[in-house]
Amino acid sequence: MIYNIAIDGPAGAGKSTIARRVAKELSFIYVDTGAMYRAMALYLLHKNVDRTNTEQIGEVCQNAEISIEYQNGEQIVLLNGENVNAYLRTEEVGNMASVSSAVPRVRKKLLSLQRKLAKDMSVVMDGRDIGTTILPDADVKIYLTASSLTRAKRRYLELQEKGTVCDLDNIQKDIEERDQRDMNREISPLRQAEDAVLVDSSDLTIEQVVDRILEIFRARTEEG
Ligand code: DC
Repeated sequence: MIYNIAIDGPAGAGKSTIARRVAKELSFIYVDTGAMYRAMALYLLHKNVDRTNTEQIGEVCQNAEISIEYQNGEQIVLLNGENVNAYLRTEEVGNMASVSSAVPRVRKKLLSLQRKLAKDMSVVMDGRDIGTTILPDADVKIYLTASSLTRAKRRYLELQEKGTVCDLDNIQKDIEERDQRDMNREISPLRQAEDAVLVDSSDLTIEQVVDRILEIFRARTEEG
């Protein structure tokens, strides 16, 4: 049997940590779709595109081939054949990804890759539109959220641990701006699918959220 679990939600809700752990528990593959949008953004930044020019972004993205490989269970994103994992997690790339992911031609390029991965193997896939657009028939759909302050505090601690000087108010402002862009774009906006279970992680530990999702998955698959 092939199973699909979709986890959507805003930036910083803990999707990737949680999706990775759920995948490990079930021996499924974890698919991080944000990383694909980030790889595309990296390409667009290298090409110095004008971030306000949707048409130009749509044109330039045609020359970027994104593919995925797995090494020891870790997702490796290849941009035109090169492993770009090390360059994807910066604020600059994240902000560009939020802008460029609103461009229909960018989304179209990544949609078939995402669907194919889920068709070929059991996956836990996280993103913004997995339950609504990419995998409308997923066995389990989770909408994982947390307050913007909680998400900003988590990000702040992460940056501090790396020794980066940062400001909590600015991080929260950045997160709220990104939410607005992701939720209000015309194509595949971030929203909870009708049949998704809402999980607010503000007052839950990672383990509690993982256990909740595993329970939902087991209940669904045992029912069916
Ligand atoms: O989850 P993340 O921060 O790595 O995602 C980076 C950006 O990519 C985010 O601002 C929205 C976009 N994205 C998207 O539009 N659709 C997805 N399925 C995943 C990410």
